[in-house]
Amino acid sequence: MSEAVIIDTDPGLDDALALFLACASPKLEILGITTVAGNLALSGTTGNALKLLHYLDRNEIPVIAGCAGPLRRESFEVADIHGKDGLGGAELPSPERQALDIHAVEWLGEELLRRPTNTVRILALGPLTNLAHLVESRPAAAKRISGIVAMGGAVREAGNVTEFAEFNIATDPEAAAIVFGSGIPVTLVPLDVTRKVLADREWNAALLAGGGRIARMANGLIEAYLRNLVARRVAKGASTHGLAAKFPMHDPCVILHALDPSFFRAEDLPLRVVTDGFERDGATVIDPHSKSLVEVLTGVDGDHALAFILERLTALP
Ligand code: RIB
Ligand code: CA
Repeated sequence: MSEAVIIDTDPGLDDALALFLACASPKLEILGITTVAGNLALSGTTGNALKLLHYLDRNEIPVIAGCAGPLRRESFEVADIHGKDGLGGAELPSPERQALDIHAVEWLGEELLRRPTNTVRILALGPLTNLAHLVESRPAAAKRISGIVAMGGAVREAGNVTEFAEFNIATDPEAAAIVFGSGIPVTLVPLDVTRKVLADREWNAALLAGGGRIARMANGLIEAYLRNLVARRVAKGASTHGLAAKFPMHDPCVILHALDPSFFRAEDLPLRVVTDGFERDGATVIDPHSKSLVEVLTGVDGDHALAFILERLTALP
């Protein structure tokens, strides 16, 4: 029995791996890919989504472009983690189609009203701007979402943009606060767990050795990330001695949870998103006074998760 999902994403190298994993899973009926600005500008994330689906031979899945920036603040300069093109310079054939000629928030609203309530789950891999816009502008449609599984936040863990904030939340904290407080069941996949699902060069070599053209592409994307990680360290004058460069499966953990939550441990926590613009801006903090109860993933069987991802990606053509 498959489940209808919509993937909201800002591809992005780990988003790409997540899309590969989702497309390798018959259990997920992907209704569409909505794109958002994040790892790079909206035109880049949308173009990358089209390229990735073309490479996966999944051109039947519609791509719909969404918000070009945060709801109520300016975007900040994004570190060059994913490469200028967002895919580590990977050579992907040009897609032979465009994104749909409708805004993602409108498309989400129409798609959700068209389908029975509580039958569509949203898998969110980037800033939550599109979803917050939907909650504010199309509340009747948003209420029909069965659940949101979102990569983001750092709860009992340091952030990756500042000491306190993780990128997807830090990019649009107001959007995250709206989504967490919307009443839609939210499962948060924070750095607390995604930093425990790390692919090293040995894992990446097994991917290359065991798979077909899609695994080879995934191997190339991971290799580009690892090369860039080392290059950025060198550029900063930091030592790379003993650096065990690893690829964090941030966004693939969202797909993994959608496929089988048993990889993870979870706690229902009252979360507050800090939106004050000061030092802790964008942090996701446990606040007993918060009314936003969020299912937060707090533990993961990292080795089992990596073995599952390897098995699924190497089974692809
Ligand atoms: O912090 C990790 C998240 O930020 C991932 O979704 C990655 O793709 C970037 O968007
Ligand atoms: Ca992402």
